[in-house]
Amino acid sequence: MHTVSRAKFIAGALLALGLTTAVVPAHAVQKGDWLIRAGLGRVVPNDSSSGFSGAPSLKVEDVSNSTNLAINFTYMMTDNVGVELLGALPFKHDLTVIGLGKVVEVKQLPPTLILLYNFSPKSGVRPYAGAGINYTRFFGERTVNGLAGTEIKLDSSTGLAVEAGIDVDINKDLFFNASLWRIDIDTRGRSSLVGVADVAIDPWVLFVGIGQRF
Ligand code: NI
Repeated sequence: MHTVSRAKFIAGALLALGLTTAVVPAHAVQKGDWLIRAGLGRVVPNDSSSGFSGAPSLKVEDVSNSTNLAINFTYMMTDNVGVELLGALPFKHDLTVIGLGKVVEVKQLPPTLILLYNFSPKSGVRPYAGAGINYTRFFGERTVNGLAGTEIKLDSSTGLAVEAGIDVDINKDLFFNASLWRIDIDTRGRSSLVGVADVAIDPWVLFVGIGQRF
C-alpha cells in the first residue's frame, strides 16, 4: 500500500509538473515591474596607458581582471523601456608597470545607470540592450614592490556605458540572467615618485546571475 501511494504521489507530481510546464505562459515583464538580479560580475580591463610624467618609459602595462558579487535593479517605465542601476562589492585590481612588475593594488566601485530597451517583454526569453553613464571611484590604493613606501592616487572617472543582456525564465518569478557591459573608464594615476600617467581601463563587465521580478 505504501508503494502504491508513493507511486500515485509521484505520478500526480509528474502530472502536475507537466501541466504546470504546459499551462504557465511565458511570464511577461511589464510597466511598473521591478527586476532584481544578483550574481557574479567580472571586470575585464582593456587597458592602455601613457608613460608617467616623471619617468616616461614607465607605463601601466596591465590592469588585472577582477570578480566579485554584483547586483542590479531595473524599473520598467513602460513594457519595453526600463532604467537599471548596476552595483557591486568592490573590485580589486593589480596594476603592473613595465619593468617593475606589480606595483599597485587598488579597489574600485563602478555604479552604472542604464536606460534599456527590452525587445521581447512578453516572452520567456527576453533580450535587451541599452546605454547610459558610469561613475567609477577608486580607493584603497596600496603601493608594493618597486613603488612600496610611495603614494599613488587614482582619479575617479565618469564615462559612457553600453549594455546587452538576456533574461530567461526559470519559473513564474525567477529568471536566469547573463549580461555584458562595455564601460569607458579612464583615470589619471598620481604617484609621489614618478608623477602622473593617464590610464584607460575601458573594461568589459560580464555578469551571470539569478533575477527576481516584483
Ligand atoms: Ni576610455
